[in-house]
Amino acid sequence: MSEEAVKRVTIREILKMKREQRRIVVVTAYDVLFARLVDAAGVDIVLVGDSLGNVVAGFESTLPVTVDQMIYHGSAVRRGVSRALLVVDMPFMSYQASEETAILNCGRVLQQTGADAVKVEGGSDEMARTVRRLTTIGIPIVAHLGFTPQSVRTLGMRVQGRDPDNAAKMVDEALALEDAGAFALVLELIPSDPAQRITEAVSIPTIGIGAGPACDGQVLVLPDLLGLNEGFAPKFLKKYADLAGQVKDAVARYGDEVRSG
Ligand code: KIV
Repeated sequence: MSEEAVKRVTIREILKMKREQRRIVVVTAYDVLFARLVDAAGVDIVLVGDSLGNVVAGFESTLPVTVDQMIYHGSAVRRGVSRALLVVDMPFMSYQASEETAILNCGRVLQQTGADAVKVEGGSDEMARTVRRLTTIGIPIVAHLGFTPQSVRTLGMRVQGRDPDNAAKMVDEALALEDAGAFALVLELIPSDPAQRITEAVSIPTIGIGAGPACDGQVLVLPDLLGLNEGFAPKFLKKYADLAGQVKDAVARYGDEVRSG
């Protein structure tokens, strides 16, 4: 198919999918080869997650990831994605300190990767104000509530929104982020009930990971869904392949053939 013939997924299309109750498929990618494959498989959104800190760099958390690293991986993925909407994560401390820092860093990531949007974590009043500033100047934003990995030091890696007050607060935060102009909302590690309430309350799509089936879409970290990340098996994760086994088998067979001449 020629490049001109490829119909790109737009933000308008993502919003329409919610209205028409068509589920949104989101997956992460971090390099050009996997980006080409997931784009060809027809996903709607490719996310260059700062989860690359864990699954590419081997850090314990996403906290050490930098803006330069997101730009490096984001532009590699950009070269492999011609159809899906491309979203790049803003890393820890690139948007929290002040609205000005957020504008400069989000603008830089958007310009230098060619992404369609960026994602930021959190639902505080300050974050809603930052999202409003960013969207007002034309930077499309995906927001992220529930377990927000950049707050792992304060939240711990655990399900959020179990108690009713916390769940109600999350609904308010979701509404505030929508009002501030975010066009989609990732919900990570929250029970199905608040996820459903949020999904019904907002008119922007919710994209769940460990948030039950009621969300408008689902996102998975690619190495997890492909079974590349051995030993990582949270309850919500369904593995669709065993690439770890296949890679080890292929390389072992290659080794055998080299050694036997
Ligand atoms: O960094 C990431 O991959 C994410 C997804 C898990 C939503 O934020």
